[in-house]
Amino acid sequence: MIELREASMNTRSRKVQGLLEHLSLKPSNAGTYAGAAGWIADSDAERLVSLDPFTGNEIASVLQATGHSYDQAIEAAVQAFPSWRATPAPRRGLLVRDLGTIFREYQEPLGELISLEMGKIRSEGIGEVQEVIDICDFATGLSRQLYGKTMHSERPGHRLYEQWHPLGPTGIITAFNFPAAVWAWNAAIAAVCGNTMVWKPSPITPMVSIAIQHLVNRVCREHSVSGIFNLVIGSNELVGKSIINDLRLPLISFTGSIKVGRQVATKVTERLGKTILELGGNNAIIVTPSADLQLAERAILFAAVGTTGQRCTTARRLIVHESISDELCSRLVHAYSQLRIGDPLDPETMVGPLVRPEAVSTMMEALDTVQRQGGEIVVGGNPLPRLGPCFVEPAIVRVTEQVPIVSEETFAPILYLIEYKELSQAIEIQNGVPQGLSSSIFTTDLREAEYFLSAAGSDCGIANVNIGTSGAEIGGAFGGEKETGGEREAGSDAWKAYMRRQTATINWSDELPLAQGIRFGPDAG
Ligand code: UN1
Repeated sequence: MIELREASMNTRSRKVQGLLEHLSLKPSNAGTYAGAAGWIADSDAERLVSLDPFTGNEIASVLQATGHSYDQAIEAAVQAFPSWRATPAPRRGLLVRDLGTIFREYQEPLGELISLEMGKIRSEGIGEVQEVIDICDFATGLSRQLYGKTMHSERPGHRLYEQWHPLGPTGIITAFNFPAAVWAWNAAIAAVCGNTMVWKPSPITPMVSIAIQHLVNRVCREHSVSGIFNLVIGSNELVGKSIINDLRLPLISFTGSIKVGRQVATKVTERLGKTILELGGNNAIIVTPSADLQLAERAILFAAVGTTGQRCTTARRLIVHESISDELCSRLVHAYSQLRIGDPLDPETMVGPLVRPEAVSTMMEALDTVQRQGGEIVVGGNPLPRLGPCFVEPAIVRVTEQVPIVSEETFAPILYLIEYKELSQAIEIQNGVPQGLSSSIFTTDLREAEYFLSAAGSDCGIANVNIGTSGAEIGGAFGGEKETGGEREAGSDAWKAYMRRQTATINWSDELPLAQGIRFGPDAG
């Protein structure tokens, strides 16, 4: 039996109130922050209501950016750029270090606000703030490691090297599902790289972004700087389009759907700007006959139902060897029937609501479609209106082959189970979708693991062995291939996308030899 966890509304309202007060948030807020001009509330701005996905109640409302306040935010980033660029990178790192400190201090309330406004469970909300802290730590160290290479010049008395310079004001567009972490991946790295920035968060999570901006402002005041981090809350139509087309922003980092990502790529490329695209995934877990099934079961459960299936890294396909598929399936059916679904702020809850009632409809439509295409629901798949308008039972659906809908990313907890006979066939199925973000194999066989990780194996940006598809650490580069966008953010050398590379050649001799041995001039002979 799935356990439904209802919360007492009184307790919850008190908690929400306390949380907003703790974070100094008002029930009505300005949604634009523009450096020295501060918070801007245009009287003719439209109001955006922040909703609690659990109850459907209003949490607060925000005055959205207008064309005028948008412009002020961009100008703040443009004005702040020259002096931030001139600040030595290790000093920029000190500011980011202090961001990490304030996020440590506010980890719990901010994590709870994420849980409240977006609907992920409390522990995942707090885990998301951990990701913010981690990337601040990473970026602080990085601020002393923005290394360039030195090459040997082919000419005597010449030095050849490359160096990395700040790129400019950066546009950051983030999605509802990671309302803090994805901002931080971009913001912490962009800041140590010497860029200023303008953030457009998802209109679904304005309060999280306002809370973050308040914390950031405190740190910036201590460092006597402003205009590095700016915020513009507004519609995709007005703010989203403006950012994409804005020549003042040489780099746009966009996280969201493939459909919108395609438009972002087209528009930004047209103006020869740079992009970092983190688009949809359609992640698979392969389970081979040698797998530790207990380990696999636990990992699959978190990967498939964690965040109610709303991570871009969520496991959406389970490709299981035919000899173990019945056993694994019955283990999962048992685990799914034990899920505690309900109030995301209740520490016992394992699965919170989907973000909006429309997401429930999308999930139900996908389930109808897959059944019409021959799939069979093994467990779950019903809405749970008794708990609220956004609740569903996570579902497992058996499909005999990769039916058309399996190639699409439905942002909900549906796991398609597909059987395979040979590992090469499993890898072919796994790679046989347009997206290429994350992938996993469960095996205890070294040969299978290495095959999966070889060039003939997974074609994804992330490939895990005996770990689920989600929950990547910030230290690695995060991103995917094919329609997922091809770029990387967060750790490793993802910072290079936020800087411009310059190749410098210095002639310290008193001769002027030309490269490639070219002889030129009156004495060339
Ligand atoms: C996302 O879903 O957009 O790897 C990001 C993970 C998290 C980040 C997910 N660290 O699941």
